This record gives sequence, C-alpha cells and structure tokens, in this order.
Amino acid sequence: MKNFTYAIPTVVHFGEGQIKKLGGEIAARASRVLVVYGGGSVKRNGVFDAAAAQLKEHGIPWAELPGVEPNPRVATVREGVRLCREQGLDGVLALGGGSVIDCAKGIAAGFYYGGDPWDLSGKKLTPERALPIFTVLTMAATGSEMDNIAVISNPETNEKESFSGPCCYPAVSILDPTYTYSLPASQTAAGTADIMSHTLENYFSPIEDNYLADSLAEAILRSCVKYGPKAIETPGDYEARANLMWNAAWAINGFLDMGKPVAWSVHRMEHELSAFYDVTHGVGLAILTPNWMRYVLSETTQGRFARYGAAVWGLDPALPARKAAEAAIQKTRDFFSASLGLPATLSELGIGPEYFPEMARKARNSGFDRTFVPLSVEDIVNIYQMSL
Ligand code: NZQ
Ligand code: ZN
Repeated sequence: MKNFTYAIPTVVHFGEGQIKKLGGEIAARASRVLVVYGGGSVKRNGVFDAAAAQLKEHGIPWAELPGVEPNPRVATVREGVRLCREQGLDGVLALGGGSVIDCAKGIAAGFYYGGDPWDLSGKKLTPERALPIFTVLTMAATGSEMDNIAVISNPETNEKESFSGPCCYPAVSILDPTYTYSLPASQTAAGTADIMSHTLENYFSPIEDNYLADSLAEAILRSCVKYGPKAIETPGDYEARANLMWNAAWAINGFLDMGKPVAWSVHRMEHELSAFYDVTHGVGLAILTPNWMRYVLSETTQGRFARYGAAVWGLDPALPARKAAEAAIQKTRDFFSASLGLPATLSELGIGPEYFPEMARKARNSGFDRTFVPLSVEDIVNIYQMSL
C-alpha cells in the first residue's frame, strides 16, 4: 500500500426526508445561491419544489440555471459563472444527476478562475478555490455527490475532459433514494454500469495489497449485481434504490483507490466515445468493459480476474485461473446485456470505426501511466474494434 491522505469532507444526509436538513446547511455556508438543474425531471418529480421550500424557509434567495445537458457543456458552465458574478451569488445548489452536479462544480470553480472555465478541464488545472457546492442527488451513478471531480464536454472541439481539486467536493449532499424512483429503466441500468465500472477501475490495479479496499470493492459489485436488476424491475423498491445510491458514492469517493495507482483506462476510452458521439456514459462503459477485460487477460492478470470471478460471481475458487477468468468476463458481459438490458456493441449505437485512431490517440494522451496493463494507441484501437 502506498502512502495516502484520507480527507473526504462532504457531509452526507442519507435517507427519505433528509431534504429537511438542506436549508439549514446552506444557510450556514451561503447567503444567495444558484440553483442548477437539467431538462426538467426535478420539476416533475417534486425535487425542485422540496428544495425551493427549504430555501424559502431559511430566507435564502436564489437564481436558476435550467437546461444542463447530459454530458454537460462548457457553454452552460460559462452561463452559470456569469449569473453568479452578476447576481452576487455565493453558493451553487445542484438538483439532479452527475451532469448537473459536474456543471455546478464547473461554475463553483469557474467563479474564482480568471480565465475561460474550459481551461480547468482542457488544461487540467487544479482549482484552488470554489463557491460552496450543495447537491440533491436524483440518480445513482457517477458519485459526483461525494467526489471532487467534474467532467465537462466541449462539443466544438469534440473534447470531454475532467478537472478535480480539494475545493470541488460538495460541502453537503442530500441522498434520498426515493428521488430516484422516477428514473427510467435505461438510466438505472446505465447508472449501475457506471458504479460497477468505477469499482472495477479501482479494483484492477497493479497494487493488490489493499485488502480492505479490495473487499469493499467486491461488496459494492455484488450489491450492484443484486440491486441493479431489482431497481429496474421495481422502480419504487427503497432497499434497491438505497443500496445503489450508497454504492455509487463509495465507488469513487476516493476510498477504493487510497494507496493504489489507478489509471481509469476504460473511462478514458469511454470519454472519447461521449466526446465524439454524445453517448450515455454508462452505456459506453458497459460496451467497452468486457472487451477491455478480454484484451488485458494474460498469464499475469488471470489470477486477479479469477479472484473477481469467485468473489463477485460466485465461481468455484477451485477452477483453473484461466478458466475462472474467462468465465468471470463472460458473466460481466451477460450481466450488462441480459440483466441490465444495455447494448453490447458500438454498432447498436450506430458508431463505426472512422474516428477510432483519433479517439485512441486522445484517450492515450489523457494518461495511461498508472494502468493495470499499459495500453498503446494501437491497443486502444483494437479494443474499440472488438467493441464494434
Ligand atoms: O436532465 P434531467 O431532466 O434531470 O434528466 C436526466 C438526464 O436526462 C435524467 N434523470 C436524472 N435523475 C432523474 C432523471 N430522470 C427522471 N428521474 C430522475 N430521478 O437522467 C438523464 C441522465 O442524467 P445525467 O446527470 O447525465 O446522468 P449521470 O448521473 O450518469 O451523469 C453523467 C455525467 O457524469 C460524468 C459522465 O461522463 C457524464 O458527463 N461523470 C462524472 C463523474 C464524476 N463527477 O466523478 C465520474 C463519472 O465517471 C462520469 O464520467
Ligand atoms: Zn463513470
């Protein structure tokens, strides 16, 4: 295990009705806020009204920025920064999924940054200061509610890049599983795939001596396998929604990769898919992950895959490592396709090979140094090809 610093500062209020704590938490840290939301789901499912009631009760005036896109765009971040500056707002409240929260982080950090907010992602800057960020989560997926990462898209340049920094953790997040009841099956499935992918990216690392983190990762994966299909079948199943929500937060809040180098290989490849084709993040991950696994399977890595197979998929630990590894990968593929109902190929999304070399170059440039298995541009093209 390498040295690390443990500091996850987000205050989480988890459970049904916890929105009642929102107003007091904001009032302690901000006086006027920008309320950021997406295409309108929060207006339909009551989340906006519940948050607005809190703001009114605590006498906190607000301005609104609706219309944050899935795969949030830098133009919306710029608009949010403008509103905060012009209206003297000193906090940002995100109501929605990862896209809305990431946009809020871009606004919060962009507020203090002197230049164009795109620089934060495009030049991979680490912001030193941000307005306080508050979130009311409506979708279990990205973990943005408890991490310090923001992923922003720039459609003009076909780029999707992230930035992060200690100031980008939300100050307070409200995690009420009932707010995810209205999430469509397709997004529940994509979110579950995203949670699993975060966990797998952390799990498959060259360093394997963090027993606590590895065991927690396996538990998160088993929990997704158990509750993802349940939430799809019964959208109002509290137990399923609650477990997915807490899984999402812990899959990427920093705990699983403390003391481990992690390269986020599949995420880097997926971000290029989203950048070029605006695909749903979790869908891209579900297509690429089993093919990445097949590609990196070798005599060196098969033991790790075999452990994964036994711990997550209940495969017989006595199976020969190679056989167990291959079975585990097939289980992963089948789960995404058959149990979650997600596409298995890029062709199903209408994506062909024309940009693969460019996408692979960009993905490679975003860093594969700390990876489980090093990948060249050619390797990445091969994985895209296998995914067609
Ligand atoms: O826009 P609205 O109307 O709110 O609808 C959204 C959107 O269409 C809808 N939705 C969300 N909650 C709902 C709901 N519909 C009904 N009921 C609800 N309760 O779902 C759609 C997708 O929402 P979005 O926020 O885009 O999904 P997600 O949470 O998966 O976020 C995806 C974005 O996060 C980035 C992704 O790349 C992508 O841009 N990521 C952020 C990370 C982070 N900050 O740490 C890490 C991830 O790996 C990821 O890259
Ligand atoms: Zn992700």
